Amino acid sequence: MSIANKNILLGVTGGIAAYKAPDLVRKLTALGANVRVVLTDSAAEFVSALSLQAVSGNPVHQHLLDPAAEAAMGHIELAKWADLLLIAPATANTLAKLAHGMADDLLSTLYLATTARLFIAPAMNQQMWKAPATQTNLNVLASHGVHFIGPASGEQACGDVGSGRMVEPVDIANEVNQVFSANNVEAESLNGLAGKRITITAGPTREPLDPVRYISNHSSGKMGFAIAQVAAQAGASVNLVAGPVSLATPTGCSRIDVTTAEEMLEACQTLVPTTDIFISTAAVADYRAASVADNKIKKTGDELTLTFVKNPDILATVSGRNDRPFCVGFAAESQDVEAYARTKLAKKQLDMIAANDITTEGLGFNSDNNALHVIWSDGDKKLPATSKYALASQLLNLIAQQHSKTH
Ligand code: PMT
Repeated sequence: MSIANKNILLGVTGGIAAYKAPDLVRKLTALGANVRVVLTDSAAEFVSALSLQAVSGNPVHQHLLDPAAEAAMGHIELAKWADLLLIAPATANTLAKLAHGMADDLLSTLYLATTARLFIAPAMNQQMWKAPATQTNLNVLASHGVHFIGPASGEQACGDVGSGRMVEPVDIANEVNQVFSANNVEAESLNGLAGKRITITAGPTREPLDPVRYISNHSSGKMGFAIAQVAAQAGASVNLVAGPVSLATPTGCSRIDVTTAEEMLEACQTLVPTTDIFISTAAVADYRAASVADNKIKKTGDELTLTFVKNPDILATVSGRNDRPFCVGFAAESQDVEAYARTKLAKKQLDMIAANDITTEGLGFNSDNNALHVIWSDGDKKLPATSKYALASQLLNLIAQQHSKTH
C-alpha cells in the first residue's frame, strides 16, 4: 500500500526551507496523494498561501478561529480527514510545542486531534538542532510514534555548517511513501498481538554488596519500555517487570518494580502461567554477592576481595517450563555478535533472539537508538539503526509473525 489516494495534511512552519513547500506538495501529489496544506503564521512570511493552494488544488488552512474555514472544514474534521500528517519544515519551536501538547494554533491542535501517521522533517540552525532541549523534545515526539525524516547536514542559510537542513522534497516524498507502506504491512501484523498477554523484563538489576553499595550496569530500560508501549498500543495486555530505572510507565501497561535478579525471577514466575509471549530485554546481573554485609564495608587495605555467586537465569528458567510462553531473548555483544546470539538462542531454548552490537557509539545501552539482528530457528532479519520505538514496532512485527506460525 502506498500513499496513492491517501489524504496528507502537510504542516508548513516558519523556517527558510518553507519556500520548498510547493515543490514538496508537487512531489506528494505526483505519487497520487491528496494534499491539504496547513500554514502557520510565521510560515506565511516565507511562502504564500496562494501558491500552495494552486499546487495542492485545495484551500490552504491557516487559522484555528476562522469562522469561514471552520464552516467549510472544521479543524476536527480536518484531523479526521488525514491518513498522514507530515510537518515539513518543522522548526525547533514547533517541535517544542508538539512535545508539550500545546494547542495554541491550527497545526498544534491538529497534531493533538488526529490519529493519522505522523512524519516530521525538522529544519533549523545546527546549534539549535544539537541543543539538549531540542533533543529531549525529539525523544518525546518519537515516543508518540513520530517518524523523523532528516535533518540533512551541510551549509545552512545562516552560514553555519552542520545538521539541520531540511531533507530535499523528493527524498521526503519518497521516504513518506516507503515508510507509510511498510508501516501498513507492520500494523496489519501487529494486529495479531491484540489480546495477547505479553510479559517484558526491562532495565538492569541491582545486586547489593552492603547497605550503601551495589553492582549493576548501564541499562536504562528504554528498549523494554518502548516494546511495552508499542505492544500496548497494538492491543496486547502488557506486564512490564522493571529493574531500577527512572522511566514513566507506558500507557496501558501494568508495571512490577523489582531490584535484584532473584526478585525479577519471582515476579516473572508468577506471571508465566498467564503469559503468551515473554520478551526479556533486561540486562540481568549474572552474579550477586555471596553474602550482603549488614554494615557498610570498611576500607581496610589496598585490595578488597568479594565472593560472587551465580544468579538464576530468568529467561532460561521461563523457557524451560512446561507451560512456557513464546520466548524472546536479547543479547548485547561486543564481538562475534551473531555467533554468540545463536549460541544463546540454542542454549536457552528460545523462539527468537535479538542481538545488539554494543560497539557502535550511540546505540544499545542507555541510548535512544538501537539496531538489532533478529534470529530465529529458520530465519533472521537485520533491523538497521533507528529509534528504540521504531525498532520496537519492527521487532514486535517479527514476533507476531513467528508466534502466529507456532500458536
Ligand atoms: O535498557 P537499555 O538502555 O534500553 O538497553 C537495552 C539493552 C542493550 C540492555 C537490551 O537491548 C539488551 O541487549 N539486553 C540484553 C543484555 C544482555 O547482555 O543480556 P545477556 O547476554 O546477559 O543475556 C541474554 C538474555 O538472557 C537476555 O534476554 C537477558 O535478559 C536474559 N538473562 C540473562 C541473565 C540472567 N541471569 N537472566 C536472564 O533472563
